[in-house]
Amino acid sequence: MAKQKSVFFCKECGAESAKWLGQCPACKAWDSMVEEPVAPKSKAVKGAAQAGPGLLQKARPERLSQIETHTDTRIVTGIEEFDRVLGGGIVDSSLVLVGGDPGIGKSTLLLQVCKVLVGMKLDVLYISGEESVRQIKMRADRLGRFDGELELLSETSLDNVEEIVIEKRPKVVVVDSIQTMYRDDIAASPGSVSQVRETTGALLRLAKGYGVTIFIVGHVTKEGVVAGPRVLEHMVDTVLYFEGDNSSDYRVLRAVKNRFGSTNEVGVFEMRGNGLREVRNPSEYMLAGTPVGEPGSVITATIEGTRPIMLEIQALVCQTALNIPRRTAVGIDTNRVNLLLAVLEKKLGLKLSFCDAYVNVAGGMKVNEPALDVAIVMAMLSSYSNKPLGEKTICFGEVGLTGEIRGVSQAEQRVTEAKQLGYETVILPKVNIRSAKECGVKLIGVGHISELMRLF
Ligand code: TYD
Ligand code: MG
Repeated sequence: MAKQKSVFFCKECGAESAKWLGQCPACKAWDSMVEEPVAPKSKAVKGAAQAGPGLLQKARPERLSQIETHTDTRIVTGIEEFDRVLGGGIVDSSLVLVGGDPGIGKSTLLLQVCKVLVGMKLDVLYISGEESVRQIKMRADRLGRFDGELELLSETSLDNVEEIVIEKRPKVVVVDSIQTMYRDDIAASPGSVSQVRETTGALLRLAKGYGVTIFIVGHVTKEGVVAGPRVLEHMVDTVLYFEGDNSSDYRVLRAVKNRFGSTNEVGVFEMRGNGLREVRNPSEYMLAGTPVGEPGSVITATIEGTRPIMLEIQALVCQTALNIPRRTAVGIDTNRVNLLLAVLEKKLGLKLSFCDAYVNVAGGMKVNEPALDVAIVMAMLSSYSNKPLGEKTICFGEVGLTGEIRGVSQAEQRVTEAKQLGYETVILPKVNIRSAKECGVKLIGVGHISELMRLF
């Protein structure tokens, strides 16, 4: 029998198969198998063996009580929004993946972090496989003067990268992006599952073996996962996603995996002409330009990480000219909007099946929290009946399929944030009234969506 020359990998999860399959047996994704040449194992393993002294020595068991930990192993950059997402600063010898759509600002963010680090007189190496050093310099010029020397390298060969990192031993390395890096001994092209997996593995060994903190940039695919498999996410210590809408300047840095901190923290930035600026008070930023007294516009409070953020939900409900009405949602899940429309139709008897519905989270933010349901319903009712919701009023709560309004978490924080921004009335689930009583604003408790119509 002829020797097998290629294998199939799942683009989504990295599962391997000897033959092509329509559906990945591991993650059940359809049409995700791609053919790649087989990596000569002996060479890859040899490369690994050369890579790091710490990791590949023969390990011996150690006693838990005798393992030393250092408390001060974090570098605090002073970019608060960035430090918070990492759990309080950059952890020594960690491998951090920063994923996001192309053009969202990953390179800019990391170059800004490098700027702070060289200002602290740390050795930092910025490796780009996408841009020439001249291009990086041009970007750096937009960010202002660097107080210290940043070393730049335009390189795509990982063998060379390894050599330079081992020789120079910088404190922090940025690899932009992992999809451009390749190892010679693997026949597959850069960005393929086997290349991404191998190069990330080599960077992991460098980070742990030589005490270098490495940031890897990864572009995401249409489906929103880091191109090249999720395998990558398992390998690194921390996975951050940089999100935002290309049409808006608002950017959210979110931790989806963090071995050294909580994953429900977010950092908020705004893209400016001279780099990213931290947004310390996202609510004010999100509510700038909100119309007053307009039907279809409703303010709500969501929780991002541990912080409440006020948002404007806009809805437009109008008679349809089509056989099947259009339902479009931006920033929230369209299925949720469809579900809420169905509940309204059934429980309030509204003729919504003859209406188009468009719902939008103003400001370009994406939210996925059931606590927004009441605000979406209120915005749609407001647009449908052409009546605005009272000024200085916000609402939140989850809507169930029988039309009941269910309690949400952190009601008190939401109400407090509303009060701080000058809101006077809060419509909230009845069960949450007790916890938010002390906040000093007028509270209107609701238990069923049939009570909402009366509030206009
Ligand atoms: P970039 O960091 O190159 O994105 P990524 O690395 O995620 O692909 O960001 C590119 C965008 O950011 C580009 O459209 C230009 C814009 N930008 C600014 O608005 N201000 C700036 O100071 C910089 C450096 C970039
Ligand atoms: Mg880039």
